[in-house]
Amino acid sequence: MDGLYNHIAPFYDLIDLPFELIYYRNMRSRWLSGLRNHRILEIGVGTGKNLKYYHSSNKVTAIDQSRGMLSIASKRLKKLNSGHIELSFQAKLPWPLPRNFTVAVATFVLCTMKDPQPVLQEIWQHLVPGGKLIIFEFGRSKNPSLYTIEKAINPLTKTLFGVDFDRKPTVELLNGRWKILDINWVLGDMIYQAVLERE
Ligand SMILES: C[S@@+](CC[C@H](N)C(=O)[O-])C[C@H]1O[C@@H](n2cnc3c(N)ncnc32)[C@H](O)[C@@H]1O
Repeated sequence: MDGLYNHIAPFYDLIDLPFELIYYRNMRSRWLSGLRNHRILEIGVGTGKNLKYYHSSNKVTAIDQSRGMLSIASKRLKKLNSGHIELSFQAKLPWPLPRNFTVAVATFVLCTMKDPQPVLQEIWQHLVPGGKLIIFEFGRSKNPSLYTIEKAINPLTKTLFGVDFDRKPTVELLNGRWKILDINWVLGDMIYQAVLERE
């Protein structure tokens, strides 16, 4: 999958632009720009679209397993001139990072994974008790008409973005070590934003 992202990195923002303008940028702003004085771990930072929303009172470590995506994020970061954000290449688990983050962010990342459990477990390890995980994700709709659309476009979204609609949403796969604090559905029930709390 990191091979896919290395290849599409130069075009990723362009392919994603309509969704970014109509939906994602509002979601990013609403859920990330209010964070203050946190130690934030962003997983799968991609081309760095979340970076401008992190207030300078936070200390942010943003990781990705694709050097191609990170190189675009790095250019974006230079323009922001933000000393509170650090990018880090992390190709495999476990991540050699501190275990004291207060917030983790994974936007459109867990839905690219066949099985998000190992990464969820790793995030859990790196959060302090009571730490929050903010996720944005696509998932299989319970509405038959929307699910038909998802199935039709799934081969394309998997090829272009690595995003698989035909999977259970991560919030339905959680064990008792996570509590759902907030969940908000967008585009019917095809996209959601959720805040989870680590026990
Ligand atoms: C669909 S893109 C989303 C990028 C960005 N989060 C956004 O909101 O636009 C998924 C990103 O997650 C990264 N990724 C997927 N699995 C990962 C993992 N296990 N560790 C680190 N990065 C990962 C990919 O390399 C890719 O850059």
